[in-house]
Amino acid sequence: MVLESTDKSVSESDLNRWDRDHSWHPFSQMEEYLGFPPIHIESGRGCWLTDTEGRHYLDATASIWTNVHGHNDVDLHAAIRQQLDKVAHSTMLGLSHPVGTRLARKLVELAPGDLNRAFFSDTGANAVEIALKMSLQYWQLQKRPQKTRIIGLRDSYHGDTVATMAVGDSQTFHRRFRPWFFDTIKCPRPDCEEWNGQLRHADARWSLHILGKLLEKQSGKVAAVILEPSVMGAAGMHLHPPGFLKQAAELCRCHSVHLILDEIFVGFGRTGPMLVCASEGVTPDFLCLAKGLSAGYLPLAATLVREDIYQTFLGPFESFRAFFHGHTFTGNPLGAAVSLASIQKLEPMISSGAIAAKTRRFGQCIAERFENHPNASAIRQRGLCAAIDLVAERDPPNPFPVPDRFGIQVMLHARRHGLLLRPIHDTLLLVPPLSISEEEIDTLIDRTAEALDAALTERAQRP
Ligand SMILES: Cc1ncc(COP(=O)(O)O)c(C=O)c1O
Repeated sequence: MVLESTDKSVSESDLNRWDRDHSWHPFSQMEEYLGFPPIHIESGRGCWLTDTEGRHYLDATASIWTNVHGHNDVDLHAAIRQQLDKVAHSTMLGLSHPVGTRLARKLVELAPGDLNRAFFSDTGANAVEIALKMSLQYWQLQKRPQKTRIIGLRDSYHGDTVATMAVGDSQTFHRRFRPWFFDTIKCPRPDCEEWNGQLRHADARWSLHILGKLLEKQSGKVAAVILEPSVMGAAGMHLHPPGFLKQAAELCRCHSVHLILDEIFVGFGRTGPMLVCASEGVTPDFLCLAKGLSAGYLPLAATLVREDIYQTFLGPFESFRAFFHGHTFTGNPLGAAVSLASIQKLEPMISSGAIAAKTRRFGQCIAERFENHPNASAIRQRGLCAAIDLVAERDPPNPFPVPDRFGIQVMLHARRHGLLLRPIHDTLLLVPPLSISEEEIDTLIDRTAEALDAALTERAQRP
């Protein structure tokens, strides 16, 4: 039998036509997408992806912020194959499997304090939904059902399901659905600029002041505060000043409000440490993990929970205290196997200082190329993630007109230079796999600068 997925008689043009006729891509204006030269990525090795026409691209999005050890990693493949030879999927509903149990134990070991329980799911948004629902149920079980409100930060992003949209604040993406959101409270986010290892500006006073006031007045009605610690990725890599998390956590603790940390983007070495909360000495009530957890291989997410919260849900069945929530692929064994292998490989990369060395090179290259660039109005970089805000003029800052889609133009030029980027509006985001070499970092930054210059030249030549 010739398998559909490998059938060589299907041509490049068939694929392009089928994609055009039958696919609907995420976060895409399809009318715009259909105008782009089509790309079908067929294979990958290390930090490089190859399309069906044999063109190579450096993966500067880490396949949407997930990839840790590169594509086609032999150790991760071995872990998946070994598991595949045993069983591809078996439910965690009323059963366990060895890799799920081992991963739960490993995550608890990595996590700070008494974050002692792992509840698995399959996407970041679901990991957050689970934390929200557990928090709300916890307060009901504690006979404080009036604690129902959630405080989130302005510009935050926690996913695209209805509850995660409600607690987030992605205006462009989510405003159409606002009538269906439950009531949440938004607090200003702190301000911080940092790149090349230097903190240039940091101000968390207003944000902490408002958070303190909100909690002082309303903590009796607030179930939880939710934060993306350190870096707010989808907002455009907005950074939190050092110490902000600790102070925010202290406010939550003083006012008996849960702290939910969404480390879906920042966890697993992206900003340096394995877990941001552990490195900042903060134990949240719930910790949401996904993306880098399974190294960009398979959909797996986890919500870690403090032991006393877990204990509150215990009782005889007829007390109906159980947490009635689950997803079909919760804790999938292949995902758990690859996550365990990835963490095992990542630990020495962090402890040896290898990631810190790459981060220094990344920061230096970005500073050299963009610090004085006339079209870069701001840079934010921490660990192996960075954002560069692009403007038509820098002083005074003058944005590109929205219909120009300048960020997208840079993305298209980058593809011609063998680089896959994904901007948010006119902010370029650079998020390579953590396995990127120092030479590849140079290539990444060179190609980004070339693509930007090419897009600027094209714009200048337009009548
Ligand atoms: C901080 C954060 N939380 C949640 C999510 C949602 O994750 P998923 O796309 O797996 O649902 C994302 C995705 O980018 C994210 O960056």
